[in-house]
Amino acid sequence: MQTLKFAVLPGDYIGPEVMTEALRVLEHVARQEGFSLDYTVADVGGAGIDNHGKALPESTVAVCRGADAILFGSVGGPKWEKLPPNEQPERAALLPLRKAFNLFANIRPGLLYKDLVDASPLKPSRIPEGIDIVCIRELTGGIYFGQPKATETLPNGERQARDTMIYKTSEIERIAEVAARTALGRGRKVCSVDKANVLETSVLWRRTVSEYFARKHPGIALTHLYVDNAAMQLARDPNQFDVLFTENMFGDILSDEMAVICGSLGMLSSASLGAGKNSLGLPFGLYEPAGGTAPDIAGRNLANPCAQILSAALMLRYSFGLEQVAARIEAAVRKTVTVDGVRTGDIAFGRGSVGTDAMATAIIGNL
Ligand code: IPM
Ligand code: MG
Repeated sequence: MQTLKFAVLPGDYIGPEVMTEALRVLEHVARQEGFSLDYTVADVGGAGIDNHGKALPESTVAVCRGADAILFGSVGGPKWEKLPPNEQPERAALLPLRKAFNLFANIRPGLLYKDLVDASPLKPSRIPEGIDIVCIRELTGGIYFGQPKATETLPNGERQARDTMIYKTSEIERIAEVAARTALGRGRKVCSVDKANVLETSVLWRRTVSEYFARKHPGIALTHLYVDNAAMQLARDPNQFDVLFTENMFGDILSDEMAVICGSLGMLSSASLGAGKNSLGLPFGLYEPAGGTAPDIAGRNLANPCAQILSAALMLRYSFGLEQVAARIEAAVRKTVTVDGVRTGDIAFGRGSVGTDAMATAIIGNL
């Protein structure tokens, strides 16, 4: 019997609520499919700060090191808002986790079911079939981590700060490979986004990506856009993209734009894959919903658990090689929300809505 060994980091506010439901779904498919779950729960984010004095306690990192994947909830909220920026739960938990586990490949599906087009701020006429794209973001390089990164005082007493945007070809090529593989499983189109009219790193990015695809993936249709234009195109006609592929900071910004045009954050999952392999020889990864901790609805059984459940499905796919089980969970979520019309408040649009637990129960019913 296969045992899935993973770390569970529920985090804050609605994090633990939706995590409970995702674990319930995993327990259910494990029983059906004959595998077992071996997970350890650890504090992260605000819970880490409150119980251990920091957002990413060493004990939590140790739990993650002993696992094949991390199922992550959401962190942060008003309680910790007054901390200095580098101690804030989100930044102080996610950035060191990305660095510690070399999580260089961020995969964010931008999926909006046809039945939910009303959730998007775009006119339904622009997205008659919903939205189905995916953003591949480089996650451990660029201006986020480049050195030097410093604030100094100039001789005249003025303050000056700098960040460094830096990429080398090997970093660009390894994320290009993830974009290519993603495209091969979908529409075989990749749009690489850069700012090659201004930035040196982008000139290298564009040349490296072009050469890499020509050499390794000539069958994929590769195009390039400047990031400002990409932001416009995404709002104008998102489905012109299949795989949107870009560096760290551009990806941070464009993936939030993609999330908002996809309507409810409660439906969006993500995967951050590591360079290293887990004990199964598959990518170690961190899987988290896009939505955040939603403090306003926490503790009231109102949160939409779908994004957390879909993130668990991504974990099965990428870190445990259970493609069919992952696809079954995704199909069950889709059927529950569309055919059965079961909705939490964020996607109800005036019709009746159910609670967090009832949504998960309905999904389990469809499994
Ligand atoms: C994200 C977040 C993080 C980022 C923050 C919390 C550091 O916005 O995952 O997109 O900028 O990468
Ligand atoms: Mg972001």
